[in-house]
Amino acid sequence: MKTMVSLSYDDVLLVPQYSDIRSRKEIDIGTMLGSFRLDLPVISSPMDTVTEALMASHMGLAGGLGVIHRYCSIDRQAKLIRQQKHGTKAAAIGVTGDFHDRARSVVAMGAEILCIDVAHGHHSLMEAAIKQLKDTFGDTVHIMAGNVATLEGFNALAEWGANSIRCNIGGGSICSTRIQTGHGVPGLQTIMDCAKTGMDAAIIADGGIRNSGDAVKALAAGADAVMLGSMLAGTRESCGTEVVHIDGVAHKTYRGMASEEAQQDWRGSASSLEGVSATIPMKGSVDDVLGELDNGIRSGLSYSGARTLAELQARAKFTRQTAAGISESGTHILGLSNVR
Ligand code: IMP
Repeated sequence: MKTMVSLSYDDVLLVPQYSDIRSRKEIDIGTMLGSFRLDLPVISSPMDTVTEALMASHMGLAGGLGVIHRYCSIDRQAKLIRQQKHGTKAAAIGVTGDFHDRARSVVAMGAEILCIDVAHGHHSLMEAAIKQLKDTFGDTVHIMAGNVATLEGFNALAEWGANSIRCNIGGGSICSTRIQTGHGVPGLQTIMDCAKTGMDAAIIADGGIRNSGDAVKALAAGADAVMLGSMLAGTRESCGTEVVHIDGVAHKTYRGMASEEAQQDWRGSASSLEGVSATIPMKGSVDDVLGELDNGIRSGLSYSGARTLAELQARAKFTRQTAAGISESGTHILGLSNVR
């Protein structure tokens, strides 16, 4: 039996380095997802409380990407793709059932990226699905696939033909996979491991990213882009749920796609619960959230003296934190109330 020590976002910090960058404008945080350039290395998750046409349009306008979820009829998903006004278009599909018809339908409506969206992507069903999609579409569509937690998983999906791969199993904010199944690898470790690949597929750090600092750590560790759920949920542009008022504060639902509530809604029954549903305070427009992320990521690069993501990855030096370091790294002012 082998055991290993695995790191996650709070276990490390990036060591500040000499910088001659005078303005965040000198920094280019653009990235390549196969042949697609994203000016902002941020992708919204294909979840039914995050990404439909409006979110995908705003992601596109900000230079990122939105992946329209698959938890609806094929006709409705195709309509959502058609309704997306801005950006490069991406749609999620599964690996069984109607996935091939769904793929044909969303591609016919203009999807250029198919995201094969399953919890455990290092699987024979994934291999068969990619093969079938390649037989149908050749290289005319970008295949995003996942999720994987290991370098072996990453390399397998890349070899089967995935152009970009969602990395991290069990790290999402609404995820209970690790509690339910005992399986997973801490998120940052997965990125560090997958970054050792020699394969030509983009690395997407998916799940567990709570702020721009986590995004910078993921990008420094080798991710080409980050995928976000909770950071974008609860915005005006997030989809799927009514606004409810709790103590006068507007809230929206954010839920895991394997939560009881979500499963009941999309397939009328629930089993193997690996997610939870939560009600979160609304945050205003996603444009502001993305603006802050953009600034935070640029500032992160400037602390490492890097003008591009490639420079960040080349220069990054991680240091381990102790529990005392983790506590010091959070705001920790004593004895005052009204801290905002
Ligand atoms: P967050 O950004 O930490 O909220 O994580 C979002 C990610 O969690 C998604 O992009 C998925 O990879 C993952 N996810 C979504 N729903 C579930 C679920 O029900 N169980 C486990 N993981 C989930």
